[in-house]
Amino acid sequence: MSENNVLLRVQNLKKHFPIGGGLFGRNTRAVKAVDGISFEIKKGETLGMVGESGCGKSTAGRTILQLYKPTDGKVFFEGQDLTQMNSAEIRRLRPKMQMIFQDPYATLNPRHSVRKIVGEPLVIQGVMKKGSSELEDRVTELMELVGMNPAYMRRFPHEFSGGQRQRIGIARALSLNPDFIVCDEPISALDVSIQAQVVNLMQDLQEQLGMAYLFIAHDLSMVKHISHRIVVMYLGKAMELTERNTLFDNPLHPYTQSLNSAVPIPDPKSEQKRQRFILEGDPPSPASPPSGCVFHTRCPLAEEKCIRVEPEFREIHPGHFVACHLADEKGSSKIFA
Ligand SMILES: Nc1ncnc2c1ncn2[C@@H]1O[C@H](COP(=O)(O)OP(=O)(O)OP(=O)(O)O)[C@@H](O)[C@H]1O
Ligand SMILES: [Mg+2]
Repeated sequence: MSENNVLLRVQNLKKHFPIGGGLFGRNTRAVKAVDGISFEIKKGETLGMVGESGCGKSTAGRTILQLYKPTDGKVFFEGQDLTQMNSAEIRRLRPKMQMIFQDPYATLNPRHSVRKIVGEPLVIQGVMKKGSSELEDRVTELMELVGMNPAYMRRFPHEFSGGQRQRIGIARALSLNPDFIVCDEPISALDVSIQAQVVNLMQDLQEQLGMAYLFIAHDLSMVKHISHRIVVMYLGKAMELTERNTLFDNPLHPYTQSLNSAVPIPDPKSEQKRQRFILEGDPPSPASPPSGCVFHTRCPLAEEKCIRVEPEFREIHPGHFVACHLADEKGSSKIFA
C-alpha cells in the first residue's frame, strides 16, 4: 500500500484492563481486551471489523481514537503518532476523528433539540457561534445530507424512529468534516428493513465526502455490503484481514470459514447445497486466553503445534493476512474437505 494513501496505521495495539484489587501493580491480572492488533486504513476506505461479542471490537475502536489510553502499541494518524501526543494535541485532532454508536438514543441528549445536538461540536470547537445564522445554515445542510427534513431540527430525539436517530448521530459526527469515523455497530440495533437504508446512506456519504470508516459489526452479513476490506477479530487478536471478496471467496482462517458459513446465500439452491459449520461453545475469557493460538480450543483442525505456539499474523498473499499455522498459499486449512 503506498504510504500516502494510508490514513491510519495501527501497530501492535494493546488495551488491557486490570482486574482484581492488586495495589502498586502487584496484581498483574488483566482482561486482554485488545492484544496486539496491526492494520492500516486507507483514505476514503471502509475497513469492516467483525467478531463475536467480547472479542474487543469496541475497545479497539476507542483505543485507536485515544478515548482509552493504549497499554502498548502505536497509532499513526496521517503519519503522526497519536499515542505520543498530550491531551491538548489530541483535542486539536479530535474533529478529524469521530465515532458513531450502536444506540444513538443513549448518546443523544434527550433534553436537547436536534439543532443543538447536530450543531454542538461546531460550537464546542469554536468553529461557529451559538445562535448564528451560519450555524443554522450548517445544521440545515447536515440534515439534508443525511436525508432528513431540516424543518425537524427543533424536535427532540424521542420524536424520531431508530433509523432517524441514527441519521442524527451521523449528522453530528459529520459536522466537523472528519477524515475518519469509527462506526461501532451503527446498524445492529435497527430493524432489518432500516439497516440497508442506513448502510446505503453511509456509503453515499463516503463517496461524496471521502472519509474512511472503521465499521464494526457482529457478523459478516452486516459488513459485507459496505466494506472494502475486512478484519476478523477473535479474543483481542486479528485472525484474518483481506479484501472483502477474497474474505468471502477464499477465507484462509478456520474461524473466518465458520463465520462465513453462517452468512445466508440468497439463492435457495446453493443455500441448500452448501455446508455449514457452526462453532460450538463460547469464546474463552480474555482474562485467561488459551495458550498458543487463542482459537485452538474451538478449532476443528487444531494440531499439537497450535496449542503450544502462537501463530504470527502474516501476509500470505499481497494484502492477505492470516494468523493460522495451517494456512498456506493454497489455503489448505479448509474446515470443509
Ligand atoms: N472499561 C472496561 N473495563 C474492564 N473490562 C472491559 C472494559 N471494556 C471492555 N472490557 C472487557 O474487554 C473485553 C472486550 O470488550 P469489548 O466491549 O471491546 O468487546 P466487543 O467486541 O465490542 O463486544 P460486543 O460485540 O458485545 O460489543 C470484554 O471481555 C469486556 O468485558
Ligand atoms: Mg462492542
